[in-house]
Amino acid sequence: MTNKKTQDLMDKLVSLCKRRGFIFQSSEIYGGVNSCWDYGPMGVELKNNIKSCWWKNMTQLRDDIEGLDASILMHPQVWITSGHVGSFADPMVDCKNCKMRFKAEEVEGEKCPNCGGELTDARQFNLMFKTHMGPVEDDASVIYLRPETAQGIYVNFLNVLAPSRQKLPFGIAQIGKAFRNEISPGNFIFRSREFEQMEMQYFIHPKEDDKWIEYWKEERLIWYHNIGIKKENLRFHQHDKKELAFYAKTAFDIEYNFPFGWKEIEGIHNRTDYDLSRHTQATGKDLSYFNDQTKERFIPYIIETSAGVDRTMLVCLIDGYHEEVVRGEERTVLRLDPKIAPIKAGIYPLVKRENMPEIAKKIEDLLKPHFKVFYDEGGAVGRRYRRQDEAGTPFGITVDSQTLQDQTVTIRERDSMEQIRVKIDDLVRELERKIWE
Ligand code: GLY
Repeated sequence: MTNKKTQDLMDKLVSLCKRRGFIFQSSEIYGGVNSCWDYGPMGVELKNNIKSCWWKNMTQLRDDIEGLDASILMHPQVWITSGHVGSFADPMVDCKNCKMRFKAEEVEGEKCPNCGGELTDARQFNLMFKTHMGPVEDDASVIYLRPETAQGIYVNFLNVLAPSRQKLPFGIAQIGKAFRNEISPGNFIFRSREFEQMEMQYFIHPKEDDKWIEYWKEERLIWYHNIGIKKENLRFHQHDKKELAFYAKTAFDIEYNFPFGWKEIEGIHNRTDYDLSRHTQATGKDLSYFNDQTKERFIPYIIETSAGVDRTMLVCLIDGYHEEVVRGEERTVLRLDPKIAPIKAGIYPLVKRENMPEIAKKIEDLLKPHFKVFYDEGGAVGRRYRRQDEAGTPFGITVDSQTLQDQTVTIRERDSMEQIRVKIDDLVRELERKIWE
């Protein structure tokens, strides 16, 4: 795709997200804060649905993974032990003239890409946000906003293992915010400084690492297919030595074919016994595992699956965005999988008379406990359908004159725009089937 087309698509998506209440720039009325985003009424529903699909897949449907919600602020020593204080850094150069800062790897030549000024030598710039805990702002009170949720899992390995009575292999899953002081954030919500991760750490016998990394690669790819992402837009990329994070022995990215190129949406890493060994050394707490069948004691290896909520959301929006001409009329439609769509059904009286609004309101009450629905009686029904097409609502339920005769309504399918008639009494079952099957 050309740059212009790419930019056009991203501009259209940003504009749709604002118009339909998905995503707003943070603190917009103050001029905005760079690379932080607020999720509006549609955005928060979509985000919650993505997270609950992941959570259900990782925890409810499996008996070998436990959930956790660790705090964002952790003991500062955690980040020294994990290597983030020493190694979680990008080499940066500063322009001596305009003071702009760039990733060293992104600058071609020796001059500032902004003003042509002279650049400093490359310096390491740590990506962790620092703050202070307590009333005194000195070196002793420094504390970090976590740059990954993973460490909250490692330090709780024994706490989770004991009460859950799990045996290896088993995993711990967590969803939560993480923060990175990225130098070049951008591409809308693709890279932001405050973001949300869905991470799962799978504890295994060291000899089984190749088997489990293959297993998790496949599982995670299937998950993206299941939330409706087109197969041809996903691929694996294996990290070469230069790309590997400091804690990883092998790593694969799941990449998506964004308008701005193939980019990572999830990392699947073999972190070996690096983290648990380091925490054992630093704390003196033995984080090894004893297999009472084989009488073997060892520090587990960890296979990590690390996905971004915001990136997954962007993928769903881009993958679902379509502009088409139907019966001579242009429409924009977000073909979101019904499982993740913010609103599952729009409910429409065909006209605002003949008791149709009252019946439609009753249908709203009937469906509300089961699904997020939206009642709309304003304007031509075609226009009401189009508004919900743009918001990704997969079904439209219309009360018309036949409803008054036989207690049936039409269900209009967003993508095919086909309509079927169903009895009001069968609506819940019919929608359940269409959403979940
Ligand atoms: N936990 C891995 C990452 O944050 O990339």
